[in-house]
Amino acid sequence: MVKKYIYGIPFETDAVVEQMKQEPEDAKLSVGKMELLENGGFSYTIPLEAADIIYGLGESNRGINKRGYVYESFCTDDPVHTEEKTSLYGAHNFIVISGSKQIGFFFDHPGRVRFDIGYTRQDQMVISAKEANFVLYEIMEESAYDVVRRFRKMIGQSYIAPKFAFGFGQSRWGYKTADDFRRVVQKYRENQIPLDLLYVDIDYMDRFMDFTVNPEEFPDFPAFVKEMQEQGVHLAPIIDAGVKIEPGYDVYEEGVENGYFCKNEDGTDFEATVWPGWTHFPDVLNPEARKWFGDKYERLISQGIDAFWNDMNEPAIFYSRRGLDALTRKAHAFHENGDEIVTWPLKDEVLGVANSLEDYKNMYHLIDGKLVSHERVHNLFGYNMTRAASEAFERIAPDRRFLMFSRASYIGMHRYGGVWTGDNHSWWSHILLSLKQMVNLNMCGFLYCGSDLGGFGANATRDLVLRFLALGVFSPLMRNHACMGTREQECYQFEHPEDFRGVIGARYRLLPYIYSEYMKAVLRSELYFKPLGFVYPADEIALQIEDQAMIADEVMIAPVYTQNAIGRPVYLPEPMTMVRFSGPDCELSEEKLAAGWQFVKVALNEVVFFVRSGRKIPIAEVAMTVDQIDETNLQYVGDQDAEYELYQDDGVTRDFL
Ligand code: GLC
Repeated sequence: MVKKYIYGIPFETDAVVEQMKQEPEDAKLSVGKMELLENGGFSYTIPLEAADIIYGLGESNRGINKRGYVYESFCTDDPVHTEEKTSLYGAHNFIVISGSKQIGFFFDHPGRVRFDIGYTRQDQMVISAKEANFVLYEIMEESAYDVVRRFRKMIGQSYIAPKFAFGFGQSRWGYKTADDFRRVVQKYRENQIPLDLLYVDIDYMDRFMDFTVNPEEFPDFPAFVKEMQEQGVHLAPIIDAGVKIEPGYDVYEEGVENGYFCKNEDGTDFEATVWPGWTHFPDVLNPEARKWFGDKYERLISQGIDAFWNDMNEPAIFYSRRGLDALTRKAHAFHENGDEIVTWPLKDEVLGVANSLEDYKNMYHLIDGKLVSHERVHNLFGYNMTRAASEAFERIAPDRRFLMFSRASYIGMHRYGGVWTGDNHSWWSHILLSLKQMVNLNMCGFLYCGSDLGGFGANATRDLVLRFLALGVFSPLMRNHACMGTREQECYQFEHPEDFRGVIGARYRLLPYIYSEYMKAVLRSELYFKPLGFVYPADEIALQIEDQAMIADEVMIAPVYTQNAIGRPVYLPEPMTMVRFSGPDCELSEEKLAAGWQFVKVALNEVVFFVRSGRKIPIAEVAMTVDQIDETNLQYVGDQDAEYELYQDDGVTRDFL
């Protein structure tokens, strides 16, 4: 059962697609106490029982169970995902209380929302925001799992990626020339490590101008795209939110002429710096501007491109005109006062110019003829940038699927693209964080998701990349990506690249299963990743498990996420078949395990997972690209007497219903 409550005059986010009637104005909420505050905000307090588990909040930091910390939905470009951070790139205001009651809440509000989940007081959850203009949905079902399924129906069908997007992709910020890309492909092919995608980071552009290609490095880009395709590789260029201010650059000129950029309060175009220097932001909340920006993707599509990633769309701001002026004034005043000796307050001011709230307050969208401060609708930017692209794809090639994923997101964007979890690090703790994020992202509709495997920031080690990849084998998006200046972490950069062949090979052996389960989950509003507690709600231990996850109805995974480990303890809520892919040739073996705790050995060149009792899953032979997988000749692992419903389609068209 869903109840919809409207407070004040909410901003239409288009997050929910299901039409439903609202509760009468004086209706009481089913649980807790809602207070509308004098300052215009709200504070909603819900009591928590000792055993209640809180699921949800999508990509946010920390556990699968969110209890015991505070989180803020405010899309943030923060590349250091340490435990204390309260906001990352996504804003996913869906939470579920599971325990004494089974109830979900969706706060449809595009400004900052704070979730104090047993942080200030361990026996209550307080949700608050500065503005009391929002829609609150209460979802009550028999189980937490049912609450999630009901929620997924409300928000509409998740984005469907093309099948090639389930292949392995290599990325690095720093590939510049056509030869840089050729070398990567050659090395992968030479080492017989499967590869389907190469991600093309900002350096392909002409001085970081969106939708352009550097003419010196890529004099004939369509021919280069084709050359890569002939090698079985799709190129996926990045598109950034900021449009370079550059007279003569048509995207800039058209945007200015038609009023398609975000504004200052006086109606002039808002300026901030990002990679290209001074930029304007397309006003993607304005449907006309959204259409205009989306249509620009056609420039790359017409050159053979079928995959993109949208970045810096929180939107990230290095500094604005206002920020720079204020800082300069402060620095002058500071030095004139002779305060040079204690300069640290000024240092904080310098750091504070990036992604500053003052800038978000002073940037405006033109909505229905009125200027709306960006701060109020901040979380909708990445969502609508991705929607711009996706709606354009439908106009440009109505029958085709494109790969599209974004860094910033809000619930609703899951219909238009997937997400990656942004600039993580080559840290062991980030393998585990990735697993937790994917479980909660799935609840919010983001089925096509993944993290930078091997870690984006900091220097990776061989063992970390192998363990990260072994988790990535199971995430729909499987991409190795790294930051410029860090140790090179392509699979062939390390000793014994054949071990990487084995681990990535496991992905291709599992691909018919992974694709089939992803598609079924999308088409049925089901979960691809889920917490153990959804499958074994009566099992006290399963409810606590934060480092294992279920995939669809058949599989359980338990990644190794500590260095120098020969394996790890795994909790089996029921007897399962342990499946192991070993060594460069990805050899398959099976072993029946009893329920309970087991210590499972996993070598660096192995991928291990577990198939539930009474289930089986299909396995293919290794192939170098998704296209080459032979799906006519599948074998099954698990319980041979079980049934398995294999979903197959052409993987390219939208003919999937
Ligand atoms: C951002 C992205 C990262 C990308 C870099 C350069 O930090 O999150 O993935 O490599 O920008 O475009």
